[in-house]
Amino acid sequence: MTDKALFGLSAAYPASRPRRMRRDDFSRRLMQENDVSTAMLIQPYFVIEGHNKRVPVPSMPGIERLSVDQLVREAELIHKLGVPAVVLFPVTDDSAKTDDCAGAYDPKGLAPRAISTLKEALPELGVITDVALDPYSPHGHDGLMDSSGYIMNDETVEVLVKQALCHAEAGADMVGPSDMMDGRVGQIRAAFEAQGLTHSKILSYAAKYASSFYGPFRDAVGASAALGSANKFSYQIDPANSDEAMREIALDLQEGADMIMVKPGLPYLDIVRRAKQQFAVPTSAYHVSGEYAMIKAAAANGWIDEKQVVMESMMAFRRAGCDAVLTYCAHDVAKWLAE
Ligand code: PBG
Repeated sequence: MTDKALFGLSAAYPASRPRRMRRDDFSRRLMQENDVSTAMLIQPYFVIEGHNKRVPVPSMPGIERLSVDQLVREAELIHKLGVPAVVLFPVTDDSAKTDDCAGAYDPKGLAPRAISTLKEALPELGVITDVALDPYSPHGHDGLMDSSGYIMNDETVEVLVKQALCHAEAGADMVGPSDMMDGRVGQIRAAFEAQGLTHSKILSYAAKYASSFYGPFRDAVGASAALGSANKFSYQIDPANSDEAMREIALDLQEGADMIMVKPGLPYLDIVRRAKQQFAVPTSAYHVSGEYAMIKAAAANGWIDEKQVVMESMMAFRRAGCDAVLTYCAHDVAKWLAE
């Protein structure tokens, strides 16, 4: 329905007084169009080596890097609250970073160990992984670099396929390619089929922008220093573009993605809206580290009410068309919803 037709349905003032329905709590509740639920939440975790370790991330107050035993403890809490899934981001030692990024598919690596331990402890909790080479590359890029400094596509995809297989074989329910190489979803899907991994799902970061909102994440995983002043514009989408995101999503769906993601979140809700309208597939957004840091910093200064702002943000994701939201606030939101 066009806006014109929609407005044509309601009478003019004073017959129409929109405030009548807003006056009372009961009628406000009856006409509420969207709802925030625990079922929409995905909680990210940064995972480190060691035992009994929790290391705070300075630019992300409230977020800690967790050793696998602590990860299990945290995951138990959010599982009890009803959060359906988590995403794991390994923080690797510099010694694990090589030009060929072989650490990405080491079956004894931190990621597969975290996945299998978590699946053993909490079989019903969905475990999603990040498929990209940035934790394993000395330069902090998501792929393999050639001698001119360019991030190579097809060579990178070969490694990503091995990484995705390594995650799925360790028990990951869903892999999340966040690298933005061309053709990787199709190659991962084909490899899964060939290995009989027909239930392994792919959450494609189909519309991932070259955003400066990722700064605190890069601090958390230790990629900021390696990346220096470099940027990811040769593979992530220009923030100026919207049609290009629709083309990326269409390709990933053709290649076999089960769910798509738009990233970052709040500044890109127009992309979420377009995607949901155009493709009508399971759609998620990543409420990223910089968005989280801004809320935390303003709240710490007493400038905003953290809980209200976070809940309003979740509602905005919903209203735009998100079925799911990957957010560092997931644990808090689930707790607040349970109160
Ligand atoms: C890298 C990756 C990034 C994020 C998730 N996976 C950073 C990047 O692309 O440089 C950012 C998430 C956040 O900011 O919370 N594959």
